[in-house]
Amino acid sequence: MLRGSLWWLLAVAVALAATRAAAAMKTGGQSLHRDFDAVWGKRNARFFDDGRVVELALDRETGSRLESKDRYLFGRFDLDIRLVAGESAGTITSFYICTGGARHDEVDFEFLGNVSGEPYILHTNIFSDDKGEREQQFVLWFDPTADFHTYSILWNPLNIILYIDGTPIRVFKNNEANGVPFPTRQPVHVFASIWNAEEWATQGGRVKTDWSEAPFVAAYRRFDATSACVWQGGASPTRCGGDHLPSSASSWMAQRLDWWSWMTLNWVRMNYMTYDYCADRKRYPHAFPTECIIPIGRI
Ligand SMILES: *[C@@H]1O[C@H](CO)[C@@H](O)[C@H](O)[C@H]1NC(C)=O
Repeated sequence: MLRGSLWWLLAVAVALAATRAAAAMKTGGQSLHRDFDAVWGKRNARFFDDGRVVELALDRETGSRLESKDRYLFGRFDLDIRLVAGESAGTITSFYICTGGARHDEVDFEFLGNVSGEPYILHTNIFSDDKGEREQQFVLWFDPTADFHTYSILWNPLNIILYIDGTPIRVFKNNEANGVPFPTRQPVHVFASIWNAEEWATQGGRVKTDWSEAPFVAAYRRFDATSACVWQGGASPTRCGGDHLPSSASSWMAQRLDWWSWMTLNWVRMNYMTYDYCADRKRYPHAFPTECIIPIGRI
């Protein structure tokens, strides 16, 4: 009974978060041309509406990737994506931040396509100091191909939080004090891409891409990095923008999950998470990675 009411309460919270996110959404949006370069599969990146919308296509020859012109050291990055509709098996549509380099840091949203009518899986991962293997997967509570939804990566010195339409789905705390590397030193580029990964993406690689359905096209719009710090090179300080007031607790730089967000995150985990490396006993028969077993402590 209690569990039932809690479920509804949290469902309402998710709906509210989505409404707030929609209200906060700027109309129009900036040109993606301004913020990104097509760095791979250029001919498969097509800009529309003065660059406000970009479609990335995957065909037999190539996929396509956008890379942000700026590099950022911390920030909140929002991007609207509409995934490939219909047949999408073997395709991965992504939105991620990555430092590159030998000891790279990376935070991934990867949408694993499926045969027509079957659900996408959202695959997330976090690399710090070159170590990833922190997979969490989710099914979505909406059809991600019917319309655009806002996917966000918040990265500050305290934690990394992933959001969908304002609803938190994952948090990775800074546990450097406990020996878990956390990205704080290297600037990232923001990336958006579509590529083929039929060897593992769909139903564990059993289902391959149906090339007769190509090209596979995903659409992106409304990139927002106004709450982010632009890296100016080693010597000059980063230029931070957005709603930040360096010492204010309400700033994105100091943002972490409050109680309500924490409850909502747990609601998502209970109802939509399909894989968590922190619960994979086959993979970790003896001990889970450090960040999995550290008590949650302060939210
Ligand atoms: C694709 O659909 C199947 C059947 O519903 C499901 O088991 C699988 O998790 C879905 N997603 C992917 C990416 O394989």
